[in-house]
Amino acid sequence: MMEVSTIRDAGREDADLLTRLIAESFRDVARRYSLTPDNCSKHPSNCQTSWVVADLARGVRYFIVSRHDEPVGCVGLEQKDADVAFLERLAVLPEHRRLGLGRSLVRHAIVQAQGNGSSRVSAAIIADHTELKEWYQRLGFFEMGTTTFPHLPFAVTFLELTISESANHRVEDITVNAPNPHP
Ligand SMILES: CC(C)(COP(=O)(O)OP(=O)(O)OC[C@H]1O[C@@H](n2cnc3c(N)ncnc32)[C@H](O)[C@@H]1OP(=O)(O)O)[C@@H](O)C(=O)NCCC(=O)NCCS
Repeated sequence: MMEVSTIRDAGREDADLLTRLIAESFRDVARRYSLTPDNCSKHPSNCQTSWVVADLARGVRYFIVSRHDEPVGCVGLEQKDADVAFLERLAVLPEHRRLGLGRSLVRHAIVQAQGNGSSRVSAAIIADHTELKEWYQRLGFFEMGTTTFPHLPFAVTFLELTISESANHRVEDITVNAPNPHP
């Protein structure tokens, strides 16, 4: 069967779906780093609908990727300031990984950020998550530094991509749906 993937803008009506995609996709990360609701209550594996609703209310745009009409992943994009957009809660369900969907979501978000006039896109990851860091680096991100936060039981590495240096970030390998008319 031909692979058909689509990415669309998410709206308020997608809040429960986004919450499920995020919580289920981050479960293996929580297991790997022994993150629980007690030691890391804000980890995306504990995602609640209220978090997504609050994100949308403060202007975070979410995109949902589907395979054969089944939603299987998402990413959030937050405009931090005129120049910088932040990728948040990038998530692909485990059984749909390694098909290029994560890469397509990131590229889609980069194109959207570019459309908003951003020149840089940032992301933050668990510092020890080396494969993920290398994956972002293959997409054109550079490591900016690592820091600790009192409320997090792991160090955080910040990554950044300069959009002008990634002019080939076009969503060629995916069909992009028109934005939801009622976001
Ligand atoms: C990160 C994530 C979104 C990637 O989604 P995906 O759809 O599998 O991504 P792609 O198919 O585009 O790319 C997969 C890449 O990761 C690599 N990869 C995937 N699983 C891997 C694993 N278990 N070990 C090592 N590398 C792995 C593959 O080699 C591939 O890289 P390549 O295409 O350059 O060879 C997905 O793994 C995920 O949801 N993880 C849990 C949540 C998370 O950590 N999100 C990021 C928060 S910043």
